[in-house]
Amino acid sequence: MKISVIGAGYVGLVTGCCLAEIGHEVVCTDNDPAKLKVLESGGLPIYEPGLDRVIENARKDKRLRFLSDPGETIRSGDAIFICVGTPPLPDGDADLSAIDNVARLIATEARSPKLVVEKSTVPARTGQELKRALAVYGRKSGVELRVASNPEFLREGTAVGDFLHPDRIVVGVEDETAEKQLREIYRPVIERSFQCPIHTPKCPNGPAPSFVVTTINSAELIKHASNSFLALKISYANMVADLAEKLGADIEEVTQAMGMDPRIGSTFLKAGLGFGGFCLPKDLQAFVHLAERSGVDFSMLKEAEKINHGRIERFYEKVREMLWVIRGKQIGVLGLAFKANTDDVRFSPAIDMIRHLLAQGARIRAYDPEAVERAKAILPEIEYAKSPYDAAQDSEALVIATEWDEFRKLDWERVQKAMVRPLILDGRNLLSPKEMKARGFEYRCFGRASANA
Ligand code: UGA
Repeated sequence: MKISVIGAGYVGLVTGCCLAEIGHEVVCTDNDPAKLKVLESGGLPIYEPGLDRVIENARKDKRLRFLSDPGETIRSGDAIFICVGTPPLPDGDADLSAIDNVARLIATEARSPKLVVEKSTVPARTGQELKRALAVYGRKSGVELRVASNPEFLREGTAVGDFLHPDRIVVGVEDETAEKQLREIYRPVIERSFQCPIHTPKCPNGPAPSFVVTTINSAELIKHASNSFLALKISYANMVADLAEKLGADIEEVTQAMGMDPRIGSTFLKAGLGFGGFCLPKDLQAFVHLAERSGVDFSMLKEAEKINHGRIERFYEKVREMLWVIRGKQIGVLGLAFKANTDDVRFSPAIDMIRHLLAQGARIRAYDPEAVERAKAILPEIEYAKSPYDAAQDSEALVIATEWDEFRKLDWERVQKAMVRPLILDGRNLLSPKEMKARGFEYRCFGRASANA
């Protein structure tokens, strides 16, 4: 099928490239000329494992094009995926102005019937507003524009695999034609009939994805309810971690056993500096806002948000307890991205934590395998190290702020030699307290009484 993608941010790029990978003809546009230039010249503006291979395949087979002209992009596709940003407004509500602009563009530029698919994360009932906007702006053209919602459940760092091997594909539709078109678009994923670029020679066995058909309102609600539940789960684990520390228990033991209950599940129970990124925090806020506007008391989610904000202060207390005076001391930081396997530093707990330490007069020497360039743009005042060892050099403490795998397997003897004081403050519970102590480190983390005694 011919598909247009509007917005070449992280969701738009992964969606566009993967739709091309499974055999569709995709045209993608963005209103940022710099981003388009990078893409047109064969580069990628984001770091996302596996995406380089997918985009290379699509280019080679001439199934993916980037255009600066939104009108031409819109006219090229039978289905148009809206993947524009919905950033938070100062009051926490989602800013839907980009969606409104795209609706105006589609309505005025389309010359043939289109399926307009809302992929951006939006509050429930946005689809209805989108339908209204398309009707208002397109009242003169008379072109048929159907609306559907197809929320994404892509995690940064594993987004290509999430797209190609999802557990569910949710489509919110109002008519059978839209359902049929979306089923056709995703047929290769549902039937697993594509050549997988990330698993060779063959993909791991697993159940085929469920194709879930709902109303548009339900599909929108599913997305916000899912992200907010994940945030709630993390904050719950963090609260139990604080209690575990006080009671002499170990949060890792507790959550491991909890997670064995299939009703609870083992993921998103990792205690630490809390959740960040461009999705969970903003979706949580937008969901609270939506609930308030609808007269539903969602203070439970506000509490989850409060707990999350408190993680940085909680961690800072540990730093202060160990270092006593912070002013003038050099602290090495491992990790800047909001999580591992991405270069995204938006709403990163690592960045918040560094700002907190800077405000107390610390000198920071930070390292991240992928996120340094992006961090420099928002945090020019710190020193950037070339390696974890360089970050440790002459530091009085080494903070682990992002759960990159490479930080699990460092040459700890080398780290220790480089440091002024062998003190590890593990904000992601990445290491074993027992092993670190055996290696001669002072070690602090979250919710493990033995390490924090
Ligand atoms: C999240 C959702 O997981 C995706 O399903 C969704 O599609 C996406 O948002 C979106 O709305 O686009 P993502 O933002 O990539 O994906 O990140 P997550 O993997 O959810 O992690 C979010 C934050 O929570 C990270 O800072 C991570 O370090 C933290 N986290 C995660 C924890 O602190 N503990 C955990 O147990 C898990």
